[in-house]
Amino acid sequence: DKGTYPFYMLKEVDEQPNVMRKLAQTYLDAAGKPEIDDKLIKAMQAADRLYIVGAGTSYHAGLIGKRLFEKLTNMPTEVHVSSEFAYEQPLLSAKPFFIFLTQSGETADSREVLSNVNEAGYPSLTITNVENSTLSREANYTLLLHAGPEIAVASTKAYTAQIALEAILAKALGEDMGLAIAKDFDVRTQLGLVANGMQAIVDEKDKLEELSNDFLMDTNRAFYIGRGIDQAVSLEAALKLKEISYVQAEGFASGELKHGTIALIEKGTPVIGIITQAKTASLTRSNLQETIARGAKTMTIVRESLANDDDDLVLPDVDELLMPLLSVVPAQLLAYYTSLNKGLDVDKPRNLAKSVTVE
Ligand code: F6R
Repeated sequence: DKGTYPFYMLKEVDEQPNVMRKLAQTYLDAAGKPEIDDKLIKAMQAADRLYIVGAGTSYHAGLIGKRLFEKLTNMPTEVHVSSEFAYEQPLLSAKPFFIFLTQSGETADSREVLSNVNEAGYPSLTITNVENSTLSREANYTLLLHAGPEIAVASTKAYTAQIALEAILAKALGEDMGLAIAKDFDVRTQLGLVANGMQAIVDEKDKLEELSNDFLMDTNRAFYIGRGIDQAVSLEAALKLKEISYVQAEGFASGELKHGTIALIEKGTPVIGIITQAKTASLTRSNLQETIARGAKTMTIVRESLANDDDDLVLPDVDELLMPLLSVVPAQLLAYYTSLNKGLDVDKPRNLAKSVTVE
C-alpha cells in the first residue's frame, strides 16, 4: 500500500533511513560486532578472489561492494554484469567465491551464471530481498536485505540495502581475518549516521524538485560525472534518470571526458558532478570547469567537508566508503521529480518489468 504517496518510488526512497537501521539491527550486535553465519565467513576466507555478479542496479551496488571488500578484507574482488559473464566467462582464479546481488532473486541472467557456478562446484552467496527466491535457493548461502517489498520498477532502497549489507559482510570478514582497518570500521555507528543523513536529504524534497526543474526538465540528455567510488554512483544516478524520466544520461569517469566525450558538451548540457572523495575532489572540480568552458550547465553534489558556498547539494559526512549511500539519494529524487513533472508513470516506466525473467 502506498498510503498517501503518489508513487511507490517516493515511498521507497523515504524508507531508506529505516532500511539502514533495520540492517544494523539484524546483522550487528549491541557492540557493533557483525553477526553473520561463521560457515559463510570461513567459506569466503577460503577463497582467493571474490566475484560479484549482478544486473542493472544490482551490478552497480556490486561496484561499490568491490571497494568495500578490497579495502576491508584485502581480497581481490571482481564485479561482472551477469548477462556478459554467463556467455563469456573470464579466466577464474584457483579458488573463486561468488556473490550474487539480486533484489528479486529471479533475474534470468544471474540465474544462468549461478547454474554454471553450481555445475563447476564453486561456493556462492546470494544477497537478495526475497526469501526463498530462486537465486537464494540455488546458492550455498543467503543474506536477506530485509528492505521490505520494492514495488516501483526503478530500484532504490534495494541498492542502498545491498551496499549496507556488503559493508557489514566486508567488516565481518576483515575483522575475522584480524585486519585492523576492518576492526576500526565502526559500521554500526556509520549506518546510524547514514540513516540520519538520508533523512536530511529526503527532507529536502522541495529543493530537489527545484533543481530538477532548473536542470533536467528541458533536456533530453545529461551527464553524471565523478571519480572512483563517485564514478560508480554516477552510473546508478544516470540509470535512474534514463529509466524513469527518459533523459539520455551517461555516468562517466570525470577524467575520461576529455578523451573524447567532451565533444558532446554544448551550451546548456547538464553535467552533474558527484564529489565525495577527498583525494579526487579537486580533480573532478577541474573537470567540471572544463565542461563549463564548453557551455555546460553544472550542478554539484558534494560531501560537507569538501563543500563550498557555491555547491548545489551538500551531503552530511560519513565514512568515505559509505558516501554512495548518501550521494545516490539526491539522484533518485532528481529522477523522480523529472519523471513526475513530465507526467510519466514513475512506477511503471515504458518497456520495463520489475523482474526480468528472460535472458
Ligand atoms: C533498475 C533496476 C534493474 C534491476 C535489474 C536486476 O532500477 O531495478 O536494473 O536492478 O533488473 O534485478 P535484480 O536485482 O532483481 O536481480
